[in-house]
Amino acid sequence: MNRSPIIALDFPAPDDALGFLDKMPSGLWVKVGMELYLQNGPDIVGRVKDRGHQVFLDLKLHDIPNTVGRAMEGLARVGADMVNVHAAGGREMMERALDGLEAGTPSGRKRPVLIAVTQLTSTGEEQMNLEQGITGSLMDSVVRYARLADEAGLDGVVCSVHEASAIRDACGEEFLKVTPGIRLAEGDTHDQKRIATPADAARAGSTHIVVGRAITQAADPAAAYETVKRQWEED
Ligand code: C5P
Repeated sequence: MNRSPIIALDFPAPDDALGFLDKMPSGLWVKVGMELYLQNGPDIVGRVKDRGHQVFLDLKLHDIPNTVGRAMEGLARVGADMVNVHAAGGREMMERALDGLEAGTPSGRKRPVLIAVTQLTSTGEEQMNLEQGITGSLMDSVVRYARLADEAGLDGVVCSVHEASAIRDACGEEFLKVTPGIRLAEGDTHDQKRIATPADAARAGSTHIVVGRAITQAADPAAAYETVKRQWEED
């Protein structure tokens, strides 16, 4: 996959999402999340792809290996270009997810990229220790999950910019580090706590950035996208 910024298409209704895309250049990477997908069904993927974009379908699957494998087979048929699971589902679940994607990919097409969520960026260390019963640091847990995803054959992980360089050391340059929480230096932080600029992310070893409101809520989204892209590619 190319290294274009991935735009988080966080809109409640397809018309809002597609109306936004109509103001943007073609050939983008966009992230369709649960909100849009669960309320509108698989059609939204085709409608975005028909406009010439690639789709990261961010459904974060986490279930028994058989169920996730079969769900992934279906998502490959739906035409997603990138999908994800929770690494906490375990090695076998991730392996079966990959098998499902391979089985569902129509001949002549590329298997969707598969990445794993490590620890959600909304999870704090104390919460992880107390609620998940995982002792030690958040960083250790994230790197452990990244190694597990790598061993299971996945293409990469979702992580914060803060963890990207440790994952690069553990899993290598080629292993994808897809990082949300991106803001332009002069922009609003919204509800994200651990934020980074596109240039920070590039320096830290992120291979891809996910950017939502800094683009979708900008007065001129196409101009904001170009600014993000320039800052991301410059470093
Ligand atoms: O608007 P903003 O740039 O904060 O959007 C970030 C996107 O990335 C949202 O769709 C959010 O759900 C997603 N995300 C995140 N943190 C994660 C995983 C996904 O912000 N750890």
